[in-house]
Amino acid sequence: MRAVLLTGYGGPEKTRLTSVDKPSIGAGDLLVRVTGAGLNPLDYKTRKGEVRVILRRRLPFVLGNELSGEVVDAGQDVRDFAVGDRVIGRVEKSRLGGFAEYAAIDASVTAHAPASIPLADAAGLPLAGLTALQALSELQAGPGRHILITGGAGGVGTLAIQIARILGAEITTTASPRGEALVRDLGADHVIDYTTTDLASVETRFDGVFDLMGGKTLNACFRLCKPGGTVLTIAGMPDAYTARHDLGAGWILQLLFDLAARRYRQLAREHGVTYRYMFMRPDGPGLTRLVKWVDAGKLRLIVDSRHPFDDFPKAMAHLESGHAKGKVLLRM
Ligand SMILES: NC(=O)c1ccc[n+]([C@@H]2O[C@H](COP(=O)([O-])OP(=O)(O)OC[C@H]3O[C@@H](n4cnc5c(N)ncnc54)[C@H](OP(=O)(O)O)[C@@H]3O)[C@@H](O)[C@H]2O)c1
Repeated sequence: MRAVLLTGYGGPEKTRLTSVDKPSIGAGDLLVRVTGAGLNPLDYKTRKGEVRVILRRRLPFVLGNELSGEVVDAGQDVRDFAVGDRVIGRVEKSRLGGFAEYAAIDASVTAHAPASIPLADAAGLPLAGLTALQALSELQAGPGRHILITGGAGGVGTLAIQIARILGAEITTTASPRGEALVRDLGADHVIDYTTTDLASVETRFDGVFDLMGGKTLNACFRLCKPGGTVLTIAGMPDAYTARHDLGAGWILQLLFDLAARRYRQLAREHGVTYRYMFMRPDGPGLTRLVKWVDAGKLRLIVDSRHPFDDFPKAMAHLESGHAKGKVLLRM
């Protein structure tokens, strides 16, 4: 079968569209004929070797974190899915393999695909949608809570705004004039234009912050969070809790991450808030919850662009430019 193989860590030349063996499946797995795959910054971070210590994979391996498709085989222990079902899923990090004609995925992290949108588009829901749902749940987004979401116009942000709206929170987001109309349309109550407004000058204090940007943006978030609140980032530095809770890692990684995140912990202490770097977790029931919202017309998957499989390098370069509005998708 054809697949995008990562042959080494570095630039785009380290990925190759080539022929590899079909994956085999275990007792709890599904074999899926892939219809669509979602691209994520995690894919180019993986290619660059930035998450090597988390993935601990031997090269070469097939890239791709999320997919949609049709079940063509199911392991003997699988109960909830059958051959012919249309499914979506965030593939486990120990396996990946979504950028391929066929992929194996654990049935427990898979959901039946939404019926109301094309199957190829539904591939963009699992990773960004679960990230947003898990982060906003930890931040207790809901009625009476005002949440700041930095970077509202991208793959995660467009879903996070809508999920925060469904949960009943008041939402402020950051966006450029290129994304402002989109984030307002999705339900943002207030928009800060990050190209003209320095977050350091913002007076509002938020009950919780969901940071998608890291760097200078994350540094500014601690001051913006009310004492007692949480700054939850998915783009800063993982800490010991991330290693233990999200990755189930041992003490060496916990210690490494603890050292890497100490500057953020100190900023958090200074402002009386909690610092949390979250690494999202694959989750079948959580994904089913998102699918129900999609089919009820409450949650829209915003598609930035759709690309044929052969144009993988072009699609990845576009995402890597950092200006996608919604999800960048591959069609198999
Ligand atoms: N830890 C986890 O589990 C996890 C999970 C998912 C994603 N992530 C991380 O989360 C980050 C966001 O992911 P994504 O998929 O949403 O990325 P994305 O789709 O590539 O985000 C692109 C969007 O970010 C906006 N943007 C760029 N710089 C900005 C700034 N300074 N302030 C506000 N908006 C800005 C761009 O808007 P303009 O073009 O208008 O500038 C663009 O619309 C990535 O670093 C990704 O690796 C982590």
